Amino acid sequence: MRRPFIAGNWKLHKTTAEAVTLVKALEANLADVTDRDIVVAPVFTVLTSVSSALGDSNIAVAAQNCFPEMQGAYTGEVSPLLLKDAGCRYVIVGHSERRQLFGETDGFINRKLKAVADAGLTAVFCVGETLEEREQGRTFEVLEKQLRGGLENLLRDAMARVVVAYEPVWAIGTGKTASAAQAQQAHAFIRDLLSRLYDADLACRIRIVYGGSVKPDNVDGLLSQQDIDGALVGGASLKAEDFIRIVRFLPS
Ligand code: PGA
Repeated sequence: MRRPFIAGNWKLHKTTAEAVTLVKALEANLADVTDRDIVVAPVFTVLTSVSSALGDSNIAVAAQNCFPEMQGAYTGEVSPLLLKDAGCRYVIVGHSERRQLFGETDGFINRKLKAVADAGLTAVFCVGETLEEREQGRTFEVLEKQLRGGLENLLRDAMARVVVAYEPVWAIGTGKTASAAQAQQAHAFIRDLLSRLYDADLACRIRIVYGGSVKPDNVDGLLSQQDIDGALVGGASLKAEDFIRIVRFLPS
């Protein structure tokens, strides 16, 4: 059985005070949840305050991005080692907003995945097709290119810790969710590809989570699918009540 993984990607939202208020509310209402991983991903400037506020609670902290070098003359960048120092256990890598707005390539994402592993952190590695690519029937081709490129020469031990997030770009922030069947089909494809790139045992253990307009009213259906092991939640993770309900999804 794969342990469910639910993460809130706060994107560019929340001041320190707002962030601490939110995690305190999550902590108070989710303390009894021990059978799934719960993660929040605030902006860089808030990471230390949020990890101190959470202490050793059952909620872990993720960064939304990193640079693939540990230190050096890279003005304005943040390394996986510094994220670890700030209390992070996870780093989101290759989010579609980074790919689309900041021109991140599969090769650059590959370097980040290796750096995150080298720092002893766990990557949440995002892949997903655009609406145009889906309409052209190229979904699997795009996923395969992103996975092969992102994972090139990533060692099995490093890959075994990665969480893959399938996030169809057309479903992110749009209110349009992939149907449970559409998402399941993509997840099954990803798992099968991982078994070819690595091996069946790794593919069977790795968590593949869905992202794209996950809400309290659709989470149960999505997470009832065989190959959907959790959720990466944007908008609905900004409200304590909604995120709590999502973490408490009821698998059928
Ligand atoms: P959304 O974002 O839930 O607001 O669609 C998901 C994401 O970008 O990770």
